[in-house]
Amino acid sequence: MGQHPTTPQRPYVLLSAAMSIDGYLDDASTERLLLSNAADFDRVDELRADCDAILVGSTTLRRDNPRLLVNDPARRAARTLGGRSEYPLKVTLSASGGLPADLRFWHTGGAKLAYTTAAAAPALRAALAAVAQTEVVGLGDTVRLGELLDDLGRRGVRRLMVEGGGSVHTQFLAEGLADEVQLAVAPLLVGQAAAPRFVNPADFPGGSARRLRLLEARTVGDVVLLRYAPKESAE
Ligand SMILES: NC(=O)c1ccc[n+]([C@@H]2O[C@H](COP(=O)([O-])OP(=O)(O)OC[C@H]3O[C@@H](n4cnc5c(N)ncnc54)[C@H](OP(=O)(O)O)[C@@H]3O)[C@@H](O)[C@H]2O)c1
Repeated sequence: MGQHPTTPQRPYVLLSAAMSIDGYLDDASTERLLLSNAADFDRVDELRADCDAILVGSTTLRRDNPRLLVNDPARRAARTLGGRSEYPLKVTLSASGGLPADLRFWHTGGAKLAYTTAAAAPALRAALAAVAQTEVVGLGDTVRLGELLDDLGRRGVRRLMVEGGGSVHTQFLAEGLADEVQLAVAPLLVGQAAAPRFVNPADFPGGSARRLRLLEARTVGDVVLLRYAPKESAE
């Protein structure tokens, strides 16, 4: 059956996170805590290279100031040879519109997209006016993830990698919008209540007794990679 012509095809949504054994994405200090090992960072680089777009929440941008690039030149060359952009589209979302123009996110890689509210969009557009290859999209009174996925689908994004932080992962899972989770469990105990968690409290589909389908468990050095299909329940 074909889709209704006005219904955009939403991208496949892959959530990717590295967390400590006790469920934290970072510690509470201002320095970013490196949870993964070199082999696992390379696995993430490959995942990025396979995606059309990478999304992160704005707190992660403000706190970690990441570049969110495909680092391996051979992977970038393969993307270009295959007719894709050298880098995946970089996407962020912010209700406040408080995204400084000097973040590395804006000045590295290729095209960038920021979703915000209709009210915050004009000021953010003005703040980012001098930043190349950047578009600000205002999506009504709040940024609904379903609408964001519809818009990305209309732009031809078929595979979206969501790299956090916890607030963003929580919403995709609670709204039943994630197709896959790739969770790298690193052998660290953070133990700080103020540190950000992989997911925050939420009403997840099916409640606390529902078992998600495990797709894979494998070691990457001292990290354990777990892959789940959150839309599917275990037998
Ligand atoms: N280990 C890992 O794999 C990993 C990966 C990424 C991040 N992290 C860590 O995660 C931490 C940050 O996580 P976090 O949960 O605090 O924040 P976050 O998810 O990175 O960002 C939250 C912010 O994103 C915006 N946002 C989220 N959902 C929105 C929506 N539906 N509509 C509009 N705006 C929305 C809001 O921005 P405004 O405040 O601008 O309104 C919100 O305050 C950092 O410490 C970072 O190091 C770890």
